[in-house]
Amino acid sequence: MPAQNVLVIGLGYVGLPLVVEAARAGFRVTGFDTSTEIAAGLNAGRSHVDDVSDEQVALARAAGFTATADEAAIGPQDVIVICVPTPLSEADGPDLSAVRAAAQTAGRLLRPGTLVSLESTTYPGTTDEVVRPLLEKASGLSAGMGFSLAFSPERIDPGNPQFGLVNTPKIVGGITPACADAAEAFYGRICEQVVRAASAREAEMAKLLENTYRHVNIALVNEMAIFCRELGIDLQDAIRCAATKPFGFAPFYPGPGVGGHCIPIDPNYLSYKVRTLGYPFRFVELAQEINGRMPAYVIERATDLLNRNAQPVNGARVLLLGVTYKKDIADQRESPAQPIARRLRARGAQVAYHDPYVPTWQVDGQDVPRAADLEPAVAAADLVILLQAHQDYDLPRLARAARLLLDTRGAVPKTAATPHVEAL
Ligand SMILES: NC(=O)c1ccc[n+]([C@@H]2O[C@H](COP(=O)([O-])OP(=O)(O)OC[C@H]3O[C@@H](n4cnc5c(N)ncnc54)[C@H](O)[C@@H]3O)[C@@H](O)[C@H]2O)c1
Repeated sequence: MPAQNVLVIGLGYVGLPLVVEAARAGFRVTGFDTSTEIAAGLNAGRSHVDDVSDEQVALARAAGFTATADEAAIGPQDVIVICVPTPLSEADGPDLSAVRAAAQTAGRLLRPGTLVSLESTTYPGTTDEVVRPLLEKASGLSAGMGFSLAFSPERIDPGNPQFGLVNTPKIVGGITPACADAAEAFYGRICEQVVRAASAREAEMAKLLENTYRHVNIALVNEMAIFCRELGIDLQDAIRCAATKPFGFAPFYPGPGVGGHCIPIDPNYLSYKVRTLGYPFRFVELAQEINGRMPAYVIERATDLLNRNAQPVNGARVLLLGVTYKKDIADQRESPAQPIARRLRARGAQVAYHDPYVPTWQVDGQDVPRAADLEPAVAAADLVILLQAHQDYDLPRLARAARLLLDTRGAVPKTAATPHVEAL
C-alpha cells in the first residue's frame, strides 16, 4: 500500500516545488512553515517562490494541499520531508537550529512505518548524528526499525527552464538499506530517476561535492580573469574555445562574486566537518578567499574606468544593473551586489540600481534609489556596472547608451562602436 500523506516542513525554494510535484503525483500534501504569512499566502493560492506559479499552487490546493504554521493542526504522516534552511552562524559555522526544530516537529508527527527524509544541505553525518536521535527521542521509536530515515539532497536550480525536481535525478541514501528502499519508493513516484547512494552519508557528501565543485571552478576562472587582463588575454574567448572540447571540460565563467544560498554557504559545512579532523579543506578555503575578493576587484576596475575619464569615484553616479544573485530570478540572498554597493557608497559614489525583479533594495538598512526608466538612467550614469545579465536587458542597446560600462558577466557583445565597454 503506497504512502498517501506527505508533510513538507519548510515551504521555500526547495519545499514548495516538492509540494507541487507530490500533489501532482497523487499524494495528499500538508505543508508546515513557521511563517504564518507564507502559510496564509499559499492557502490563498499565492506563490512566493520564483519557479512556482500561482496556478501551480492552485492545482496543488485543488489536489488537497493545505499549508499551516500550526503544528498542532497536523495529524500523523506516512512521509515527512524536511526542507528548512541551513545558514551559517555568526562564527561562520553550520547553523542547524532549523533542522533540529524541524526534526522535533517530525518526531512528534511520525508513526510506525513513517519515512522521514532530510533534504536540507548539510555536512555528512547530520542525518544519522543530529536528526536521528531527535526523531527517536520525540517518537519513542527507533530509526531503521520503527520508522525509515533517509537523506535526499535537493538539487533545485532556480530559474532553470530545462531541469526541475521531476527530471533531475534524485539521490537517496538511507541509514539502512530498508530505509533507502522506502525513500526510493517515495521519490520514484515523483521523480523520473532515483539514484541510490551507499548510505545517508554518501548522499550528504554528493550534494557538497556538487556545490564545492562549482565553488572551486568559479574561483579558478575568477583568479584567471584577474591575471588574464594583465596579460592582455580575453578569458571569455578562451573559455568559449575550451568549451568546444566534447569531453573532460565544463565551462565556468568569471563574475562579481558568488551568491545564492548554496555556493557561498554549503562548502563551509564541509570545511567545518573536515576541520573536526584537525586539518583544513584547503581547496574550499582558497575558493572562498578568491571568490570573496571579487567585489573588491569590481570596485578596483570601476575606479580604473572612471579614472580613465578623469573622474573620481567620489561623487560619480554609478548605476548597478541586476542585483539578484542569479539572472532571471528575484532571489537576492548573498548577492555580491550588496558588498559592491556598500563599497561604492563608502567611497562617496551616488549609487542607484535597476532590476526588473527587485522593486525596492536596501543596503545596510538604507534604501538604494531605483532607476524607474532604464535607458535614460543608463545614459545619465557616469558608470554602469552590469552585475546580472537578465534576459530583459537589451545589452547591445544599453551598451550604446552608456558612457562607461563595466560588464562583470562578459555578456555584452564586443563591437568597434563600444570601446567604453569593458568586461571583467
Ligand atoms: N534554494 C536553492 O536553490 C537550494 C538548492 C539546493 C538546496 N538547497 C537547500 O535546501 C534547504 C532549504 O533551502 P530553501 O532555499 O528552500 O530555503 P528557504 O528559506 O527558501 O525556505 C525555507 C523555509 O523554511 C521555513 N522554516 C524555517 N524553520 C522552520 C521550521 N523549524 N519548521 C518549519 N519551517 C521552517 C522558513 O520560514 C522558510 O519558508 C537549505 O538547506 C538549502 O541549502 C537550496
